[in-house]
Amino acid sequence: MSNSTFRTAVVRTPGGPESIEVIDVPVVDPGPGEIRVRIAAASVNPVDLGVAEGFFHGMGLINQPEHTGLGWDFAGTVVASGPGVDLAAGTDVAGLVAGFDRDFGTYAEQIVVPAADVAVVPDGLDLVAAATVPLNGLTAAQILDLLGEPPTDGNRLLVTGAAGAVGGYLLPLAQDRGWQVTGLARADDEGFVRGLGADFIDHATPGWDAVADAAGLQEQGFALVRDGGAFVGVRPGSEPAAERGVTVAAVSVHADGPGLSELLARTASGELPARVHAVLSLDQAADAQRAIAKGGVRGRYVLKP
Ligand SMILES: NC(=O)c1ccc[n+]([C@@H]2O[C@H](COP(=O)([O-])OP(=O)(O)OC[C@H]3O[C@@H](n4cnc5c(N)ncnc54)[C@H](OP(=O)(O)O)[C@@H]3O)[C@@H](O)[C@H]2O)c1
Repeated sequence: MSNSTFRTAVVRTPGGPESIEVIDVPVVDPGPGEIRVRIAAASVNPVDLGVAEGFFHGMGLINQPEHTGLGWDFAGTVVASGPGVDLAAGTDVAGLVAGFDRDFGTYAEQIVVPAADVAVVPDGLDLVAAATVPLNGLTAAQILDLLGEPPTDGNRLLVTGAAGAVGGYLLPLAQDRGWQVTGLARADDEGFVRGLGADFIDHATPGWDAVADAAGLQEQGFALVRDGGAFVGVRPGSEPAAERGVTVAAVSVHADGPGLSELLARTASGELPARVHAVLSLDQAADAQRAIAKGGVRGRYVLKP
């Protein structure tokens, strides 16, 4: 790598994993309030498959003239700080880059991000594990913010996709907030779900006070909520229609440095699951996406540039 460029994985014309290419792009200096991070690890998430295949281009959410960046979360080491930042070079951080329409992403050797969007990685948490936290930990926390306080007359929450990345955070975090939690997952996932203190089902049953739809079941997930209950989905802009007095919302995850700091601390202490399926190189991003597309993967693929 030269001093003036770094490697990053992008798509020019989206067409699935085959369209991912690793290119060299110029190094950018951090501006006011920003840091440049040498990325040590970046998770491969379902949203990245949608970007590579052009799903979000098709929705009109991405309009990049040259190429689109891949990857939403990362862990790494600060290498440069802009004016007004008090994170020293050498500090290990993790962070989330939200939003679809960008020519850069975390599948890269470097990234420039607002310092407010990252959190310091606590001692005892390695950067590969830390990279799996931001997107899905924050999504789970923000789903629970949308659900609000559990009603005193009904706190039975069903988490669909309970063994997935978002679901695995929802199970413990929802119990902390006073929900009585049941996870809907595949039969093989029972040990994982119960191990996080939740009840378990492998077939959907109706009548829940609230549903957090981390499996993206949409209308089928909505149908599981009792009249007057609450539904929070993961597909903003495609929420099921509100009926039967059920409130409907969908999460659109945003960066939250302090919130991430708490999630990282609780991951380091073992209270929250840290699940890494495999570590691959940046050049193997397409292989990771192809494997995820088949379904059934538990834990994240993590890219090490
Ligand atoms: N809007 C936002 O801000 C936001 C943020 C983060 C994530 N998301 C979305 O949230 C969803 C979950 O993300 P994730 O990273 O947690 O995905 P994930 O790790 O792939 O987890 C999804 C889980 O749902 C399970 N599942 C699917 N259909 C099921 C069914 N009918 N019954 C039981 N389990 C079922 C899957 O099992 P199998 O693998 O066996 O199919 C998998 O365990 C994705 O659609 C993602 O794009 C949205």
